[in-house]
Amino acid sequence: MGNVAIIGTQWGDEGKGKIVDIFADAANVIVRFHGGNNAGHTLVVNNQKTVLHLIPSGILRDKKICVIGNGVVIDPAELLKEIDDISSRGLFPKRTKLFISELAHLIMPYHKALDAAKEQVASKKIGTTGRGIGPAYEDKVARTGIRVGDLLDKKVLREKIEASVPLKNAILQKVYGATCSFSAQEISEEYSRYAERLREYVANTSVILAREIAKGKKVLFEGAQGTQLDIDYGTYPFVTSSNTIVGNASTGSGVGPAHIGRVVGLCKAYTTRVGEGPFPTELNDDIGERLQRIGCEFGATTGRKRRCGWLDLVLVKQAVRLSGISSLAITKLDVLTGMDKIMICVGYELAGKKITDALPASIADFAQCRPIYREFPGWSENISAAREIADLPRNARRYLDFIAKHTQTNIALISVGASREETIICEELFS
Ligand code: GDP
Ligand code: IMO
Ligand code: MG
Repeated sequence: MGNVAIIGTQWGDEGKGKIVDIFADAANVIVRFHGGNNAGHTLVVNNQKTVLHLIPSGILRDKKICVIGNGVVIDPAELLKEIDDISSRGLFPKRTKLFISELAHLIMPYHKALDAAKEQVASKKIGTTGRGIGPAYEDKVARTGIRVGDLLDKKVLREKIEASVPLKNAILQKVYGATCSFSAQEISEEYSRYAERLREYVANTSVILAREIAKGKKVLFEGAQGTQLDIDYGTYPFVTSSNTIVGNASTGSGVGPAHIGRVVGLCKAYTTRVGEGPFPTELNDDIGERLQRIGCEFGATTGRKRRCGWLDLVLVKQAVRLSGISSLAITKLDVLTGMDKIMICVGYELAGKKITDALPASIADFAQCRPIYREFPGWSENISAAREIADLPRNARRYLDFIAKHTQTNIALISVGASREETIICEELFS
């Protein structure tokens, strides 16, 4: 089985964009299967930074098929902006093809307004990215959503928008006290314009994926967000509105689960979180500030400062179990250089009991968890030029060995800088 899924093990921003770009070299097809432009995946190639929100991170490679699967929610204006951006910078190779599932749901202007309005009135804010993700998935599940396929038929599009807009205006105004009022006609015209430009990319992507798999081509499934943001298994309600674990790679792309071979978990060498919610290993001190500064921890989508803390292996072990992760890719190891000592959380204490493998179901209990740490000596050597494990200082290797042993995984890759080449590849993923 040659296919591989890349899944975030923490609260997102583990460096999925960089790692997908690297493994895309050996893949033929790269597919996004959930989330939307709440994601911000950063690639640094030839000193040029590209942040992708919707387009799969294989797009900078030549002769690839990039697929936005049915599980993704698409803001067409943002997608077109992204296509235009990479095209105008000459980064969209002519022989690389982009396909968008006709079954993917659309983010509409009222979804963004609802996202903002809900956050405004909420007593406990989630700290969403404000991109309309939650309300778009709500419409999908309520069976009132509008899909990419609907864009292609003007009449159907108009009818669906006309059915939705009065209801959304009423909710916005009467429930949330908002002053905005959407016009069905204006939205229909706007989205019809997007349809003309997006038409060439729309396809039955499940059929395309099946065809490529039958030909023996290698598929790379690109997860967004991270396991702790999963709608079922994450730190609910401080989560996103889709399943971020590997199970959704199948549902969200229309590929049978037997075709998803190997699962690689992305794990930052420390932990970050954007938005609200408990974070047991968070460091509200000089060390947290240092991680934030040296790691340039600003949200790639919203620009918000990311909260930073020590590596939490309870989270990572949970991710390993939920997605059947056999290998980890460890990113941002370079950010830890220069620290005297480094801590790893190996368990929590909650009401006198020790937890090591699974987060408590209740968010109130999770907020009470106190981390149990193991201390590791740091290293001072610059590691950005390391290209083999043997190039790393002994203490860095000890740190990595402990992560692998404790999570019962192999380490497939170590990232020591933001650029494509600042990478130690320990295992070729595609067999
Ligand atoms: P994603 O959402 O998981 O793709 O991650 P983001 O792109 O949101 O955030 C990761 C950030 O770390 C980006 O700015 C990357 O350029 C950067 N990055 C990735 N890997 C490394 C690394 O090994 N070292 C350093 N210093 N930066 C990295
Ligand atoms: P990538 O793919 C980090 C967080 C938001 C908020 C919560 C819900 O770049 O790792 P949403 O807008 O999805 O309803 O917000 O989820 N969040 C992310 N945090 N990285 C992401 O994506 C995220 N996508 C959503 O900050 O806490
Ligand atoms: Mg990100």
